[in-house]
Amino acid sequence: MAFFTQPRLEVLFDKEAIAKRVAALGKEITQHYRDDVAGPDGRGLVVVGILKGSFVFLADLVRHIDLPVQIEFMGCSSYGDATESSGAVQVTQDLTKPVSGRHVIVVEDIVDTGLTMRYLLDNLQSRGPKSLKVASLLEKPEKNRANIKVDFLGFSIPDQFVVGYGLDAGGLYRNLPFVGLVLPDTAGQS
Ligand code: PRP
Repeated sequence: MAFFTQPRLEVLFDKEAIAKRVAALGKEITQHYRDDVAGPDGRGLVVVGILKGSFVFLADLVRHIDLPVQIEFMGCSSYGDATESSGAVQVTQDLTKPVSGRHVIVVEDIVDTGLTMRYLLDNLQSRGPKSLKVASLLEKPEKNRANIKVDFLGFSIPDQFVVGYGLDAGGLYRNLPFVGLVLPDTAGQS
């Protein structure tokens, strides 16, 4: 029995497709950084998850990265309960350690307009990392107006409202194990 109203959803990426892609991304990241962050002199990779939406993707991704990894989080909200980015980014939680001289990957669930990521990259770049790259489960290339290059990308999607696997509508549905498209008659109503 359902305890709340589910939106009508169409599955875009089921859990098998996501698992396969995330495993491939972890391998790609491992190969990219292996020579820089592993070994006796390596200081490991700093993976910065952006709360809240990245938490599911990040948890799965880091288990496929075969390197020394330190996890940090930044709390960041640009949408609130709205479905369109206001462009005004609010940092609600900061890193617990400096990232100066470190290899850093910022992990997001989605790069939509790119405004949040642009703010985050500028913010983190000012802290002097050795390198700074972006991993995102999803991107919407036709909405990206901040010229964001996603270095490690799960899937590109059209401009559609999606939930699940960390992505929410009104704070709900982050726990769905798949990424689903909210069908038009229910979009924006939660
Ligand atoms: C979502 C998402 C990104 C941002 C992307 O966060 O997690 O951080 O929007 O949008 P943009 O590219 O248009 O800036 P949201 O503000 O909804 O917070 P949440 O992660 O807590 O859901």
